[in-house]
Amino acid sequence: MVVGTQWGDEGKGKLTDLIAKEMAMVVRYQGGHNAGHTIVIDGETFALQLIPSGVFYDHIVPVIGNGVVVDPKTLLNEIDMLEGRGVDCSRLRVSGNAHLVMPYHQELDRVTERYLGKNKLGTTLGGIGPAYADKAARIGLRVQDLLDAKIFREKLDVVLREKNAILAKVYNRLPLSADDIAGRYLDEYAPRIAPLIADCVGLVHDALDAGQHVLLEGAQATFLDLDHGTYPFVTSSNPVAGGACVGAGLGPRDIDRVIGIAKGYITRVGAGPFPTELIGPEADALIERAREFGTVTGRRRRVGWFDAVMMRQAVRLNSLSEIALTKIDKLDAFDTVKVCVAYELDGKRYDHLPYHQSVLHKVTPIYEELPGWRTDLSTATEPSDMPAEAKNFVALIAEQAGVPIRLVGVGPSRDQFVHFAAV
Ligand code: IMP
Repeated sequence: MVVGTQWGDEGKGKLTDLIAKEMAMVVRYQGGHNAGHTIVIDGETFALQLIPSGVFYDHIVPVIGNGVVVDPKTLLNEIDMLEGRGVDCSRLRVSGNAHLVMPYHQELDRVTERYLGKNKLGTTLGGIGPAYADKAARIGLRVQDLLDAKIFREKLDVVLREKNAILAKVYNRLPLSADDIAGRYLDEYAPRIAPLIADCVGLVHDALDAGQHVLLEGAQATFLDLDHGTYPFVTSSNPVAGGACVGAGLGPRDIDRVIGIAKGYITRVGAGPFPTELIGPEADALIERAREFGTVTGRRRRVGWFDAVMMRQAVRLNSLSEIALTKIDKLDAFDTVKVCVAYELDGKRYDHLPYHQSVLHKVTPIYEELPGWRTDLSTATEPSDMPAEAKNFVALIAEQAGVPIRLVGVGPSRDQFVHFAAV
């Protein structure tokens, strides 16, 4: 499993793509088109939102698991984009139990964010939260409903009556038309998606029974988790490792390796607490150098120094077996690099994440400062290519986390990783 350990955008797509070559199957287990996984292959950049990163290998079956919420329009656009660039998507499979993102989910995401004003969450406006809310409320439409027009229409009519009442009476919006939605979903999308719909739990277990390797690809990240993240500034699914069992139909004993992916610094899109956040010229320098703008929304990301307190919590929540540290080349130009090793508030030291979020909002980071390496790391392929200062930075993070770092990312390309035996 590959799981993000921060607030997303750690480089999961690239890492998944790197290790996917040893896999028979790559399964997305939660989230939807709020994800933005960027992969660079032979100088060509691909941005994926829904399709698992394994799609670029001919021998891999990419699977969209039951835990994902699927916007069919985005899915089909993504297939068309990939096929148009010569990537075969015919092996893609979509769980019949995955829920559909509907036009009223997107409309409600937009109007509720507007309604919240300065308290808005800063969502991707893709309808993700409303789709998961309907799943929990048991009024969601599932991918398998696309195969039965009668059932689809019955469910749609019931749910749309309520949604239109909310849109019109609470938010003063025009009601949506059931005929319009049914036309698009049943006539336009269903014929193209039907051949991809499968019993994905069966597929995954057949692969495991045959001794094949399956990779679980998390979207978003640990601190955007609905239960364990900085609620309410979270997404509406469970990116943590436990979520993979639910979202792919596996038991905990089926999972034997959990790779936590962490950037050498931290970014966040949207609102919420961020203890090591940088403001001012230091932030501007990092954002410019690291091109920290959202893949999906284009928004400028918030940036800060690496936070080992959060990392230790991510190790616990995901039972990480190792860490892949990415983008440390973006720190090449700094004279000094910092790692937050603990927090402090009112004379009390916190080595672990305080459970009370009001504390997290107010803490001051305690930093360990290291001299920067001021060397271009992008061509490094082995640990011996890295200056001692860069290796010290990696070693400090591994020591603080308490689990080994085996891969260090030094550039956007699939092969720009330095492999360590273990730091
Ligand atoms: P939602 O998932 O669109 O509901 O957005 C909820 C929060 O999660 C917002 O702060 C988003 O910016 C954040 N978010 C959702 N998906 C991603 C992602 O793939 N990377 C980074 N942040 C994300």
